[in-house]
Amino acid sequence: MKPDMSVEIAGLKLRNPVMTASGTFGYGQEFADYVDLERIGAFVTKGLSLKPRAGNPTPRIVETPGGMLNAIGLQNVGIDAFIQKKVPFLRSVNTPAIANFFGNTIDEYAELAGRLDAIPEIAGLEVNISCPNVKQGGIVFGTDPQCAFDVVSACRELTVKPLIVKLSPNVTDVVAMARACADAGADALSLINTLTGMAIDLNRRRPVLANITGGFSGPAIKPVALRMVWQVARAVDLPVIGIGGIMTATDALEFILAGATAVQVGTASFINPRASQEIADGMEAWLMEKGVESVRSLIGALETS
Ligand SMILES: Cc1cc2nc3c(=O)[nH]c(=O)nc-3n(C[C@H](O)[C@H](O)[C@H](O)COP(=O)(O)O)c2cc1C
Repeated sequence: MKPDMSVEIAGLKLRNPVMTASGTFGYGQEFADYVDLERIGAFVTKGLSLKPRAGNPTPRIVETPGGMLNAIGLQNVGIDAFIQKKVPFLRSVNTPAIANFFGNTIDEYAELAGRLDAIPEIAGLEVNISCPNVKQGGIVFGTDPQCAFDVVSACRELTVKPLIVKLSPNVTDVVAMARACADAGADALSLINTLTGMAIDLNRRRPVLANITGGFSGPAIKPVALRMVWQVARAVDLPVIGIGGIMTATDALEFILAGATAVQVGTASFINPRASQEIADGMEAWLMEKGVESVRSLIGALETS
């Protein structure tokens, strides 16, 4: 008997808990030659803004022990080109596509939420709140509970689709952020986004990245991500999507035990473009081997006493 791998997030039915992480899977189509998109649970598009963005100057990626730093600078085609050029492909895929988006003001976030809400091919929205609020001195929305509440509330008003809020790990108290987003009407929380880091070229006495700092991702961040997922899943009554350093089926199942309903695979897809599908297959094989009938029975099943 094959185990039941299906999970549900805010009414969104996924055939299995494996999603791909924003910024690591293009708009879906780029990976269609490598991954059978109908064998993963869902995929998340590169973060969208109202206007197209060229991103930061290069170098903007560097490998570090156990991970990588990126300062892509949220390069993307913008919402208009997304609708014209990327959405038609989504019609041919029988797998939920989640649109990730961001803004620099609450109005920008809200406008994007409304425009994405009107696209039938988009199954859900993931709002990236790890961006500076230019109207409030550049404070990052996702590092202040009131700012997070305000931006999520504004998006909530303009969409009836499942609204996932993606949390930043660059905070002292991730649970306070999670609660603020829940109070604002989020349907689910995804975590973690990248940790801010930097790399230095000693001989040149210069930062490696043109942007100086970048977002740290990959296997090195997994323990931090697991801890935050565990803390948030216990504290907030919303489904949690675990992200951070997931390279194998074992990693993914650890996040499920910690309380995640689903997971996202990010950096792993750069090393092996088939990683997400292989992780989904590997999870199913583990459940079969252990005689576990449903992956849902593992959610939050970590034993701590
Ligand atoms: C090159 C790159 C680009 C990313 N772009 C985005 C983005 O546009 N929006 C977003 O919310 N997260 C973005 N992320 C963060 C990932 O979705 C993910 O949260 C993070 O990399 C941690 O997961 P991982 O360790 O599996 O990569 C990006 C990550 C990388 C490595």
